[in-house]
Amino acid sequence: MPCHKPIQEDMLTYQAGELHVEGVSLQHIADFFGTPAYVYSTATLTQRYQEFETALAGLDHMICYAIKANSNQAILQCLANLGAGFDAVSEGEIIRALKTGVSGNRIVFAGVGKTQKELRFAVQTGVCQINVESEAELNALNEVAQSLGLTAPIAVRVNPDIDARTHHKISTGRANDKFGIPISRIRDIYQHAASQSHLKVVGLAMHIGSQLTDLAPYRNAFRTARELVRALRSDGHEIHRLDLGGGLGISYHAKEEAVPPTAAEYGALIGEHVSDLDCQILIEPGRSIAGPAGMLLTQVIYIKSGEARTFAVIDAAMNDLLRPALYNAHHQITHVRQPSSAAARCPYDIVGPVCESADTFAIQRSMPMINQGDVLIFEAAGAYGAVMASEYNTRPLIPEILVHNDQFTAIRKRPNIDEIIDRDHIPSWMKIR
Ligand code: LLP
Repeated sequence: MPCHKPIQEDMLTYQAGELHVEGVSLQHIADFFGTPAYVYSTATLTQRYQEFETALAGLDHMICYAIKANSNQAILQCLANLGAGFDAVSEGEIIRALKTGVSGNRIVFAGVGKTQKELRFAVQTGVCQINVESEAELNALNEVAQSLGLTAPIAVRVNPDIDARTHHKISTGRANDKFGIPISRIRDIYQHAASQSHLKVVGLAMHIGSQLTDLAPYRNAFRTARELVRALRSDGHEIHRLDLGGGLGISYHAKEEAVPPTAAEYGALIGEHVSDLDCQILIEPGRSIAGPAGMLLTQVIYIKSGEARTFAVIDAAMNDLLRPALYNAHHQITHVRQPSSAAARCPYDIVGPVCESADTFAIQRSMPMINQGDVLIFEAAGAYGAVMASEYNTRPLIPEILVHNDQFTAIRKRPNIDEIIDRDHIPSWMKIR
């Protein structure tokens, strides 16, 4: 497998032996900002968003980018400027969406455990839809709306009991997953919702999982959604909007076992199932927009020989990119300085500096020779990378750099260590020695 060939060949090119994002050398970014750092391409982000717009062009639709995938304010602004709406799962994410200048009627509020404070904020903000995930939430929302003298627009998230055939930790549509309301209870729940004084049913929602690389589970889900919309309408409910969730997968390997469907194929499938329903169609893609647009830039600190293995110890760790430790996720690792095509390949364990064996990014990965000081990238790290980072081991969150043609800038700077320590407070009764 040619590991030095980038997956995103249109975004990443070797120019004069150095890997470039758009018109900017990654070695230059590493020298300028230091490593580790996240780097994003505006062109790829834009292209990925527009592919969804094109795919759904024939339908009344709204693309609500799932903020959770990458919530940097510059990323959100870029997408808002392209016309995106937003899928928010916390008060903080609603505030981020509003700060881009979009109005509440382009924000969907989702999540299995919204607090009453968050529900209150969402209703006051005038979000276009709150996706309700339990009867208890439905009742709480009615009370909140009543106390405000407002009406809350709701969709109920159905759990259709469909296996998305993805990693079990990111599959959400099976009967035993904590998400949504079982399909067998949906009609009763809508009946109950309709009887509440301060709720207004506007739609139906579903989301069956993330990183789907196969259209078959979507086909089942869309068919189910279609039948449900019809059943709910026959029960007298006004279903104007159908929220089909997110989840479209992306390529993480140079040679993918299952190549993820394109936005066009996904859009065509949606059209096939729901175009005659006379609903506004919402989708909530996150990874498929932000993922391919980003990478993690890192430098090799040491090469170390173990008993039977060679370790490349890099300056990025599991606190910067959690996906490999949490999901055994694979990210293609590519040299920033182009290896010669004759370079010997060796198997490396690529590991971070954190004191846990889980801080391992790749095991026995065949790579062109890696040397101390080499700069590498982890590809397809624009989604669920920076947002899932922590300061474990008092490692500062890493900067995020946005490239646009031949320009680049930090859209989040690297905090210094004092800023981190100064957030803590020594109680007055404790002696400072
Ligand atoms: N809508 C809902 C209700 C969701 O729960 C999610 C993701 C999305 C939309 C966006 O899904 P996407 O298009 O990004 O697949 N941290 C994991 C992924 C968690 C996904 C959570 N929900 C990872 O790194 O793979």
